[in-house]
Amino acid sequence: MSSLPDRIARTILIAGGALLLAGAGAATEKMPPAGHYGYGRIPTAAEIAGWAIAARPDGQGLPPGKGSVDDGANVYAEQCAACHGTFGEGEGRFPKLAGGGNLTGDRPEPTVGTYWPYATTLFDYINRAMPFPTPHTLTPDQVYAMTAYVLNVNDIVPNDFIADAQSLPKVTMPNVNGFTWTDPRPDTADKECMAQCRDPASVKISSTAEGKGLTPREDGPLDEMEPK
Ligand code: HEC
Repeated sequence: MSSLPDRIARTILIAGGALLLAGAGAATEKMPPAGHYGYGRIPTAAEIAGWAIAARPDGQGLPPGKGSVDDGANVYAEQCAACHGTFGEGEGRFPKLAGGGNLTGDRPEPTVGTYWPYATTLFDYINRAMPFPTPHTLTPDQVYAMTAYVLNVNDIVPNDFIADAQSLPKVTMPNVNGFTWTDPRPDTADKECMAQCRDPASVKISSTAEGKGLTPREDGPLDEMEPK
């Protein structure tokens, strides 16, 4: 058996050899053009297009194409039903895509139907992330069709609905107004200013949030608080 110092010396030699090899490899690689941080390069238009896939509520970013509820039902049965159930009821612990009752009960169940504010977001999500094991494998027509199908099993669109870049932004989702909330807390009584602002030295703090029951929260959820 070799002694401990022997083994340490050998380990250092091996590690040193590996470093040398790694160093040699790096030296033969082409140096990237120097940028702000001295590395990286400007992405190509095709690379940017691959990432810039966001579909917005007003329809911006939705690609050309279209799909019907019936077409969606077929693709959905093949690619989605194993996890999400044939009618969106969810298999096992995979998420439900339909139903869910209302959001005000003791156990609210957020689904596409009860919770999602925009139909375009459904397109975006499927396009971006589903099917779970193989995202980015669906054509725009397939994604439109499955968006139509999932909206249909939620009773949001009729059986003859065709999803496309024009129709999806017009769909009114049940919870579209569920995301608006005005923070009741007084921020400052002063007016914002960008020019000719007051001299900071002249500003006196005359009140704070302390004692107003706002910070820290004393009782009740934040959204039940009234302005004081
Ligand atoms: C292998 C199982 C699996 C398959 C197949 C699958 N999904 Fe999913 N899906 C999931 C999981 C898991 C999540 C939750 C992912 C997360 O929250 O990060 C999800 C989330 C979703 C959601 C969001 C649900 C919500 O309310 O948050 C939608 C919409 C959806 N999937 C649609 C589809 C569609 C359409 C297909 C078919 C193209 C599909 N999924 C195929 C497993 C799957």
